[in-house]
Amino acid sequence: MSETGTDEDTLARAAELREQLAEANRQYYELDDPKLGDDEYDALLNELRALEAAEPELRDSESPTQKVGGRPLGRFEQVRHTEPMLSLANARGAEEFRAWEARLHNRLKSLDITPGELRFACEPKIDGLAMSLTYENGEFVRGATRGDGVIGEDVTHNLMTIDDIPKRIEIDDPPELLEVRGEVYYPRAAFKRLNEQRAEAGEPAFANPRNSAAGTIRQLDPEVARSRPLSIWCYGVGVQRGLDLASHSEELAWLKEHGFKVNDDIAVVETADKVVERCLWWEERRESLDYEIDGVVIKVDQRELWRELGVAGREPRWAVAWKFPPMTATTQLNQIVWNVGRTGHLVPFAMLEPVHVSGVTVSTATLHNEEDLERKDVRVGDEVVVTRAGDVIPQVVAPLIQRREGKRLRRAKPPKKCPSCGTPTVKAEDSVWTVCPNRRGCPGQQFQIVKHFVSRGAMDIEGFGEKQAHRFLSEGLIGDPADIYELTAERLMELDRIGETSAANMISEIERSRERPFGVVLFALGFPGIGFVNAQALAEHFGTIDALLEAEAADIEKVDGIGPILAAQVREEFHDDYNRDLIARLREQDLRFELEESERRIEGGPLEDKTFVLTGSLPELTREQATQMIKRAGGKVTGSVSKKTDYLVAGDSPGSKLAKAEEVGTTVLDEAGLLELLGDAAALPDRPAAPKGRA
Ligand code: IVH
Repeated sequence: MSETGTDEDTLARAAELREQLAEANRQYYELDDPKLGDDEYDALLNELRALEAAEPELRDSESPTQKVGGRPLGRFEQVRHTEPMLSLANARGAEEFRAWEARLHNRLKSLDITPGELRFACEPKIDGLAMSLTYENGEFVRGATRGDGVIGEDVTHNLMTIDDIPKRIEIDDPPELLEVRGEVYYPRAAFKRLNEQRAEAGEPAFANPRNSAAGTIRQLDPEVARSRPLSIWCYGVGVQRGLDLASHSEELAWLKEHGFKVNDDIAVVETADKVVERCLWWEERRESLDYEIDGVVIKVDQRELWRELGVAGREPRWAVAWKFPPMTATTQLNQIVWNVGRTGHLVPFAMLEPVHVSGVTVSTATLHNEEDLERKDVRVGDEVVVTRAGDVIPQVVAPLIQRREGKRLRRAKPPKKCPSCGTPTVKAEDSVWTVCPNRRGCPGQQFQIVKHFVSRGAMDIEGFGEKQAHRFLSEGLIGDPADIYELTAERLMELDRIGETSAANMISEIERSRERPFGVVLFALGFPGIGFVNAQALAEHFGTIDALLEAEAADIEKVDGIGPILAAQVREEFHDDYNRDLIARLREQDLRFELEESERRIEGGPLEDKTFVLTGSLPELTREQATQMIKRAGGKVTGSVSKKTDYLVAGDSPGSKLAKAEEVGTTVLDEAGLLELLGDAAALPDRPAAPKGRA
């Protein structure tokens, strides 16, 4: 026992937690290299909070529970925030949010405030970097990071390179002083490209968009930031003189009106039920957005209540962060196993101690390939950080090296023999992959080939999944995809547990798959380098399998999106004897090996080289029909309007594309206008089955 009664273990534990949290903060804020999963960080912080709440002796203004983040790095000028940049209390889900809201009402009652209707602004909680932008008499004079909430770093030189940050407020009487707060972020699509470029240049990849934003903002040379497309979402006003608006939502509207980027989907609602609804709405969209969000920030809209409610520790009482389940977690890696892929590549997988990640239990995760494995230095026995997003296979992000503590862990090497067929594996010098060279005889590869062939995006044979592929192959019913078309109901019924109905269903599904178009059949073959998009492009370009079988690399290179290396590889595949034999057997089974008349382009069609965008619903044609007709006539159909768009075909409820077309001066057509443009090309007899309501 210490003198004041707190036992030694508790003191030691608190000290240990503070140290771990300080180190985690340093990794996160200063090194942009987080080593702890969100869940682990939260668990440590909660444990420390609980200890501090129970033991007054432990309370300390220097504790990580009282501070926001890392101290400034010291390379930039320091900026003292006039009003501290606060943090937010968390609510994990509806129950915790409702408890927060109940506390809010109680507090208002005890302050003797009847606010009338409370209103809540529900905003995406952007996972980026908090920034303070100061405008004096309308001029952008200073931009600073949050730092520890009190002192941040002056990063004006980098923020000046961000187009989405107004450099001046274009009005006659700008407020004398205005501090705009927002979150700088790295758009996801651009982040992906950045990491691809870094990999090519042999530079280490950023772990996530947030780190790449932080890494960019912390550069001394603004040219780095200029070359990277950072953006910002503005979410509030800090200090100000001369703006004085009564509500947060009015401030946001003012910001938007004056050129600041404010999210269009911020909603102001009146009830807790509506807040819950809105949070679920955001959670559903989470993965389809071009910016990462880790929750929803709910703020009392009435600004006068902010003052009354005040701040507890580092968290204002007028706002709360509804946090989504963490996308990362920490767990132990028990084993690394190797699977053989469709093209013979050996793929490492991590077998994990089961752990919850974004609401799902994860026990296996991909390690991509051996190069990745080596670069990350993941070892059997490591504690690892795991992430999961949507349908994407869970991934191992990084090992927690500091947890190895004297444990002797070994690196995993790809096996010398194929785990499926035992053939000695090979690794070409210029490849990151070790492969099983037994492409024809390896049961593991055959399984992957069949599984891919029947899968949803390919031949789409319903009821024929991984299980069936495995069973039919191992019981010798099939050896490759062509054998599938020789199956009969009788043959299937010889298998245990397959009755008459399911056998008949399977056969009719197989029959139906013969109708799949040429481009899809090419994709289903599963040749290396021929993904869905390339398969469609090859089908459209060559039109028939015979043309493709004869094509030389130089011809293949002419296809949109196919470069010289891929072209040579594609030629190789179509000249391979085994592949040619497989194609011949599938042809005998009447699979489609050429474009249908309706899929073909008309040589020198009337829309040659014209680019179209479709929007809204057309009176007679479906979108697919219109697309097909335009393509046949030589035109291109793309998804969004730009200066390169020649025509926008607009139906009912056209939405924002119409406004954009008007802005950039694209010609707008209705359906009749399109048909007129198509002329004879629309009237051809093989035009896609008569449009709705037309003879
Ligand atoms: S309000 C006083 N609004 O979340 C309230 N913050 O955990 C704090 N953040 O430091 C700022 N999106 O970096 C607010 N719509 C939003 C936000 C947001 C992201 C970040 C910000 C803040 C942290 C608090």
